Amino acid sequence: MKISAIIQARMGSTRLPGKTLLPIEGKPMLWHVVERVRRSAHIGQIVIATTRQSQDDEVAEFARVHGLSLYRGDEHDVLDRLYQTAVTYGSNPIVRVTPDCPLHDPVVIDAVVSEYLRGGCDYASNTLNYTYPEGLDVEVFSLKALERAWKEARKPSEREHVTSYIRNHPDLFRIKDVRGPYQYGTFHWSVDEPADLEFVRAVYRHLYQEGAIFGLEEVLALLKAHPNLARINEAVEINAGYKKALREEAVHGGVLPLDRSLDCLAQAESVIPGASQTFSKSWTQFSRGVSPLFVEEAEGCLLTDVDGNRYIDFSMALCPVILGYNHPTINEAIAAQLRKGIVFSLPHRLEIELAQELVRLIPCAEMALFGKNGSDATSAAVRVARAHTGRDHVVACGYHGWHDWYIGTTTRAGGVPKAVRELSHSVPYNDLRALEGLLEMHRREVAAVIMEPVGVIPPVPGYLEGVRELTTHHGTLLIFDEVITGFRMHLGGAQAFFGVVPDLAAFGKAMGNGMPIAAIVGRREIMQVFNDIFFSTTFGGEALSLAASLATIRYLEEHNVIDMLWRRGAKLKEGVERLIQELGLQDILEIQGYPVRTVVNCLDGRGGDPWVMKSYLQQECARRGLLYSGSHNMSVAHTEEMIEKTLRIYREVFTLLIEAVKAGADLRSRLRGAVVQPVFRKA
Ligand SMILES: Cc1ncc(COP(=O)(O)O)c(C=O)c1O
Repeated sequence: MKISAIIQARMGSTRLPGKTLLPIEGKPMLWHVVERVRRSAHIGQIVIATTRQSQDDEVAEFARVHGLSLYRGDEHDVLDRLYQTAVTYGSNPIVRVTPDCPLHDPVVIDAVVSEYLRGGCDYASNTLNYTYPEGLDVEVFSLKALERAWKEARKPSEREHVTSYIRNHPDLFRIKDVRGPYQYGTFHWSVDEPADLEFVRAVYRHLYQEGAIFGLEEVLALLKAHPNLARINEAVEINAGYKKALREEAVHGGVLPLDRSLDCLAQAESVIPGASQTFSKSWTQFSRGVSPLFVEEAEGCLLTDVDGNRYIDFSMALCPVILGYNHPTINEAIAAQLRKGIVFSLPHRLEIELAQELVRLIPCAEMALFGKNGSDATSAAVRVARAHTGRDHVVACGYHGWHDWYIGTTTRAGGVPKAVRELSHSVPYNDLRALEGLLEMHRREVAAVIMEPVGVIPPVPGYLEGVRELTTHHGTLLIFDEVITGFRMHLGGAQAFFGVVPDLAAFGKAMGNGMPIAAIVGRREIMQVFNDIFFSTTFGGEALSLAASLATIRYLEEHNVIDMLWRRGAKLKEGVERLIQELGLQDILEIQGYPVRTVVNCLDGRGGDPWVMKSYLQQECARRGLLYSGSHNMSVAHTEEMIEKTLRIYREVFTLLIEAVKAGADLRSRLRGAVVQPVFRKA
């Protein structure tokens, strides 16, 4: 058994050409890497693998001058190059060390090799879950595993990122995750961009002495003493090359790798009913097999799924994330509060501060109470309305959450007692007559009309004013459910936008940029009834969400965010409208809604099934890097550039759609995934 380190080095690099041989303290980067690998106690041979291209003659010359074994192979098939090198030199196991990591630590290399040698695996690495800084990457694997990957890997990303096939197939290979006693996975020490080289050179300037090696601990101590050093390259994206390869594969029509999503679904189904906590985020809404089903992380408006594919996201967690994912200001507010505590045995002064902000901004708000979900807020509003009026019936218009009083009006009414269902009624939006009829039929019985002041269809002139008059006339309270419109249409909600003031209102979603917080606000005399009834939960005053909400609302106000969302949303909406016109899609697609939140609807104008059409759009958008849910919940992170990119994707996908429709094709035959389903069906 010959333990060989194979270093695949070449001069071509789009982001930093020739980086392999760029000098650090007077020696080429590759020289430093080789010196560090030489200090490993386990490695018996170092092989440089490069391409046959003339520009890599320099790398070959480097190997010759330094007495290193050399293999020159295929330029494009990097996996083949690695495999042929291993076979040529009888390497087994193979220690894969990348040439752009001049901070490799022989101690870390040996730790990973030892874990591999301990047995029970085909592949061991410290890169599966980064605990060491990125840039100390070591992978050790058997020749047999490499051979299987070489034979079976098909996707371009798997041929280029040579161990990805092994890593993505825990079903085929025994994989060992080697972790260190650290949490430094966010450090970026490999050299991809000029800023990385600058960082590494700065580290070497401080620590390098000829003939000696400095290791991980010394670099960590240096960064602790000089925190500014780590800032040099903090903006560089980790593993950008691999992620780009996956994205391009998606864009250029390759198969989108979704294995982990499907694996998560299989696992979730056995322990979680519906495999999700939220219907609208579940596999029923995203086409199984062609659209991602589970998320790993998100940043701005870019969501990365569990397979490492990245998408532009317009759902933004179903509206809450109005400033973008992982927003530094909100993170900072949460972190600052976290250091002081999360929940306490007494109310927190942040409750007062946030209540004061809501009272200042929202027309109907004279007092406020907090909950965790929109459903908390709407249900509390209904309860207080019943207590205040002494009436039992409720009229609903829109969607208001999961509680009995509302869900009993839908097709998902199972488990709701008949007696409760009989007290709730629905009316269509923009239909004053229907409301008037209902209020007449249940004279002096209706405690409240609760409605979304607007969904995607604008109110007809006089409608909201009419509802206000009718409810006042009948002694019925008017509750605006502003869970979606709040902090999106206007800082004071749709009530400020339309100038119609309800008695009570419910807020949620965007008010915390993703932290779980909701609010019931309203007239003092009604809100004071809460003193006598019961709305009280352990986490109502949870301070991280209160801090996040205050920071979100202040950011929205100070940066005039809502105006910006209107402008950018208008650009997107107009762009989609133009595409629909230009491509002649009027009878199969429409876009509705105010610019801050628009929805694309699939229509059955040509006899097609809208759910099949939605699934097809999702399939084609996902392949191009767009997570299509049908709605555009605008956020700060949806920059002009993101909107243009989205419109380019829509152009391609809508073109495919119209071509298929014109050719009379059954879209179902073009689907490679499952057909998505509505959350509620028509009763
Ligand atoms: C208008 C409206 N009201 C209430 C709710 C319920 O909010 P939650 O899901 O946070 O309980 C929602 C959720 O989507 C909503 O859109």
